[in-house]
Amino acid sequence: MIADRMTSISPFYVMKLLARARELESEGRSIIHMEVGEPDFETPRPIVEAGKRALDEGFTHYTPAVGISELREAIAHDYQVRFGIQLDPARVLITPGSSGALQLIMSTVINPGQAVMMADPGYPCNRNFVKLVGGLPVTVPVGPDTGYQLTADIIEREWRENTRAVMVATPSNPTGTLINRAQLEAIYRVVQEKGAVLIVDEIYQGLVYDIKPFTALEITDDLFIINSFSKYYGMTGWRLGWMVAPERFINAADKLAQNIFLSASTPAQYAALAAFDGETQRIVEERRAAFQERRDYLLPALKQLGFDIPVAPEGAFYLYANCQSITDDSFSFAHELLETEGVAITPGRDFGDNQPDQHVRFAYTTAMPKLIEGVARIARFIRR
Ligand SMILES: Cc1ncc(COP(=O)(O)O)c(C=O)c1O
Repeated sequence: MIADRMTSISPFYVMKLLARARELESEGRSIIHMEVGEPDFETPRPIVEAGKRALDEGFTHYTPAVGISELREAIAHDYQVRFGIQLDPARVLITPGSSGALQLIMSTVINPGQAVMMADPGYPCNRNFVKLVGGLPVTVPVGPDTGYQLTADIIEREWRENTRAVMVATPSNPTGTLINRAQLEAIYRVVQEKGAVLIVDEIYQGLVYDIKPFTALEITDDLFIINSFSKYYGMTGWRLGWMVAPERFINAADKLAQNIFLSASTPAQYAALAAFDGETQRIVEERRAAFQERRDYLLPALKQLGFDIPVAPEGAFYLYANCQSITDDSFSFAHELLETEGVAITPGRDFGDNQPDQHVRFAYTTAMPKLIEGVARIARFIRR
């Protein structure tokens, strides 16, 4: 018998769509992928070379559960370089992707029956991490008026007696929108006054456009940060992320990491040391510029086709569009678009219950010529 809790865990609907896209590709169809939530670029060469060296030199054993000290120090140092903040490396815990960090945080913070507030639409796995530890995900519908983000007012209004934590992501998946510094400060104040915990997902932090990135750690040490080498550093498959924890949670998180992961991938940790090299930084910044160029093309192009994107996304590599003027069933729309024109996009259903049938997500994780071709195919599909 499969455990009862599994009935409440939802799958990624887009996986089925992706599988169908791959099937069509294997039959020789040309597919434009605008559904994939990972950079199309390969891992920067200096990181790959450092990973190979790690393997050659025998760095293939377990590391401490919280990661190698060199990497924890390098990450702490990077916060100093980028944001001018002093961060004790002891507060940086290396995890198997930020997914590992999410698991550690939910397990160390949430008791069964306690609620975690988060925005809807939002990253789908968050709800499932909360459920896995017996918590209650409280998803709050958000819209363009607040940049698809929770605000201090919303948090105050939606507060429940059993609310234990609030989770925000800036930039957000699926909307690419950010929370500005003043708003994040206000959010922190509300959460702190209530004696709860704030978790800030900064996994897309490196990928922001037009604006100067900042970290919630500039506001306070009293929150959890999750981050990752997956997106900005193009290391999704290496499975390497990190969290920054308030001091009082470190021992508990360490103890749990020892049990559930033993450690993050050792060669990946050594490879990631090269993420902070000048050459890698040059490469990832070049890629950031490429993402920005794609966004600048795709945003007006989709609007012209009738998709409503009321808040210009300033980060990540997603555009979250209201498709109401084109269809009232985004799920069928995405499937038919794939079958007819070979363009894969993600239906809103994957991101929550807040008008999912009126929304789709476009990922610009595909090179410009393909994006241009994708837009032409979508236009043809809509005109049909
Ligand atoms: C908002 C957000 N958080 C966390 C993750 C998890 O990423 P990883 O485990 O690769 O670090 C993702 C992946 O798509 C994401 O979009």
